[in-house]
Amino acid sequence: MKVLSLFDGISCGRLALERSGIQVDEYVAYEIDESAIKISKKNWPDIQHKGDVTKADFTEYQHFDLLIGGSPCQSLSIIQAHKRQNLKGKSKLFFEFVRAMEEMKPKYFLFENVASMNEESKQTISELLGCQPILINANCFLPQDRPRLFWTNIPVEVDKLQECSAKLRDIMQKDVPEKYFYNYTLEGVDMAKKVCAHVVCKNLEMHRRVYNPEHKVGCLTAVCGGGQHRKILDGGRARKMTVLEYERCQGLTDGYTAGVSDSQSYKAIGNGWPVPVIAHVFTGLKDKQ
Ligand SMILES: C[S@@+](CC[C@H](N)C(=O)[O-])C[C@H]1O[C@@H](n2cnc3c(N)ncnc32)[C@H](O)[C@@H]1O
Repeated sequence: MKVLSLFDGISCGRLALERSGIQVDEYVAYEIDESAIKISKKNWPDIQHKGDVTKADFTEYQHFDLLIGGSPCQSLSIIQAHKRQNLKGKSKLFFEFVRAMEEMKPKYFLFENVASMNEESKQTISELLGCQPILINANCFLPQDRPRLFWTNIPVEVDKLQECSAKLRDIMQKDVPEKYFYNYTLEGVDMAKKVCAHVVCKNLEMHRRVYNPEHKVGCLTAVCGGGQHRKILDGGRARKMTVLEYERCQGLTDGYTAGVSDSQSYKAIGNGWPVPVIAHVFTGLKDKQ
């Protein structure tokens, strides 16, 4: 199968194709983030990187089979609801996906984005892509809550999907170095029945959300600066989740993002696709090769 991937990030789509047993004859990626490209190249030396999507002539790919992509979601996401610009903000890059559909006319396509976008954006995307989205939460496969919308003409089995039993405890790293731990007050917080607790950081007088390893973590995001990493309770103490734990929560292979700084890894993983979800979608291509 020949694949064109827009907003390719760290090529989670390529890994998902491999996981679902789809033969990839050619994979062309458009991505501009240097660290993401470095991670992609390390894992997939065969991928052809082409850079900025706005400069592309998609008529070159008319013989390709599959178009995939999840455009930047910042201006669609609930995370920035107070200043949300919807499809007029950074997320307007979605229209590049539409242009690719028109110029390339792929047999199959998959467009992914956040489930928290407003109804108007959802309708616009559905009209332009010619189908309604399906909602899949990564919690069906992974210890992470990550509901996402998928517009696709690949037949996808969704009726039998349900939350799986995987929890944070299953992917936790052992013997995590001291530098990951925070000086948070957890006294008086009964974590037993909680998915996460808001605790007070002693020094900073700030409230932080700490996840219970017996549950799933909230959606990993690319917003990792200023102490925004997901936090986990480990031996009664709060600590930052490690890069390895981030990779596992997205269904990547261990060390997939190694070779860039930790902050670039956290960002790239938070931006990425949960691999088993995408692999599940691609399973519908198995008899179409
Ligand atoms: C939500 S992320 C997609 C991540 C990807 N699905 C993955 O599995 O890693 C959006 C990506 O679009 C990239 N991007 C932003 N502007 C772009 C442009 N003009 N051309 C190509 N990629 C761009 C960002 O660098 C970011 O990696």
